[in-house]
Amino acid sequence: MFNHDHIDSNDKVAFYDEILMRVKGVLYEEPDAIANMANVASILFNNMENINWAGFYRFTDAQLVLGPFQGQSACIRIPVGRGVCGKTAETMETQRVDDVHQFEGHIPCDAASMSEIVIPLVVDGQLVAILDIDSPILNRFDDVDQKYLEEIAHSVATGSAW
Ligand code: SME
Repeated sequence: MFNHDHIDSNDKVAFYDEILMRVKGVLYEEPDAIANMANVASILFNNMENINWAGFYRFTDAQLVLGPFQGQSACIRIPVGRGVCGKTAETMETQRVDDVHQFEGHIPCDAASMSEIVIPLVVDGQLVAILDIDSPILNRFDDVDQKYLEEIAHSVATGSAW
C-alpha cells in the first residue's frame, strides 16, 4: 500500500520531491479524477506544515463546484471571477495571496485562513479544476511552493480523465 510516513519538511525541495513521488504513486494507472483529487488532497493536507485546507474545485457548468478536499466544510459553488478561486478560473493563472484580507472579494470559508494559493488545472487549454490550499499564517507560500504545487496540479490534470 502507499507510504503514509510523515515527511520531514525542513528541506523544502527534498520535501516536495518526496510529495511528488507519492503523488505520482497514487496517480499511477488510475484515470478517475475524483479518486485522484481525493488522494492528492490527503497527501498535501497530511504532510504540509501550517495549512488548514487543501482540496479541489471542479470546473463544471461554467462555475467552480467543490470537489475532494480535507479541512473544514467549504462553500460549494463559486462563480468565475469571484474570490481567489474564481480569479484563478478567470485568468487560468496561479493566484498566490500573502494576506487574504487584502484580497478584494476573498471568500472566507474558514475564518482561520490568512494566506492562500490557488492553481489552475488545465488540459488542452481548457480549465478542468483548481487546486486550493489555505494557511492559518500570513505569507505561507513562496516560489518553491508555487513551482512544486503547479507541478502537482499538472500531474493530476494530465493523469486523470475529465
Ligand atoms: N477562499 C477561497 C474560497 C475557497 S475556500 O478557501 C476553501 C476564495 O476566496 O476563492
